[in-house]
Amino acid sequence: MIEITNICRSFNAHMVLDNLSLTIKSGETKVIIGRSGCGKSVLLKHITGILKPDSGSIKIDGQEITDLSEKELNKVRMGIGLVFQGGALFDSLSVADNVAFVLNEFHKLDKKMVREKVREALSLVGLKDIEDMMPSDLSGGMRKRVALARALCIRPKIVLYDEPTTGVDPITADAVNNLIIETREKLKITSIVVTHDMNSAYKVADSIAMMYHGKIIAEGRSEDIRNTSHPIVKQFISGASIGPITEAENLVFGHLE
Ligand SMILES: Nc1ncnc2c1ncn2[C@@H]1O[C@H](COP(=O)(O)OP(=O)(O)OP(=O)(O)O)[C@@H](O)[C@H]1O
Ligand SMILES: [Mg+2]
Repeated sequence: MIEITNICRSFNAHMVLDNLSLTIKSGETKVIIGRSGCGKSVLLKHITGILKPDSGSIKIDGQEITDLSEKELNKVRMGIGLVFQGGALFDSLSVADNVAFVLNEFHKLDKKMVREKVREALSLVGLKDIEDMMPSDLSGGMRKRVALARALCIRPKIVLYDEPTTGVDPITADAVNNLIIETREKLKITSIVVTHDMNSAYKVADSIAMMYHGKIIAEGRSEDIRNTSHPIVKQFISGASIGPITEAENLVFGHLE
């Protein structure tokens, strides 16, 4: 479904993606782990065409997207749901308008149809009767759900999640994990989940890939990664499980800089 081959991308002299290759099969949930700043969000932005690689190829459903025009890219984007880092909702828009945002921007649907699709997407994430509420009235967990409903509203083939469980309590995080799993099972969606949360990674992944210095340095099923002998992966996952990532990173990766 997504085939990334040898992509490179630098900002000024800083090489963020260095000959990175990764394949995501149809219906699979691929989890990407890696320390802060290693380029995970930059990679997701390449898959949506927001950023273009300096070299290399990105194919979605067989179509090369690196040389598409903005107009052609918008068509590809219609099949991709995005759950942004931080679950960002538009504070000045109601829940309904947030969920319908992409529909209202790109599709010409009548209001009744939009309302129906919004209700459907909210019910997929276990929410109802909150269409008229404002994001500021919601709990962190509900905001995450609304962000997922917004991604699902366009009935995408692919959903990209950027740190979906960051900033919510462990029980809410687990509910988000279950939603990711349910989405894959019910809607047969292909997903990429970027996370620092190893519990979440193990739970939702069909396969986990670790990014380090712009490359994928290890890839495997949850059990393979959990039992890895790769020293950098081992450090990362043991670090990630002993506390918040910032502390863990200082502890584990401080000497690598
Ligand atoms: N538009 C940009 N211009 C210049 N540098 C950028 C740009 N976008 C990202 N970078 C740099 O690329 C690197 C990777 O950033 P990215 O946001 O992908 O990290 P990340 O792995 O998602 O980190 P985190 O886990 O903290 O979200 C950083 O050093 C960042 O400063
Ligand atoms: Mg990021």
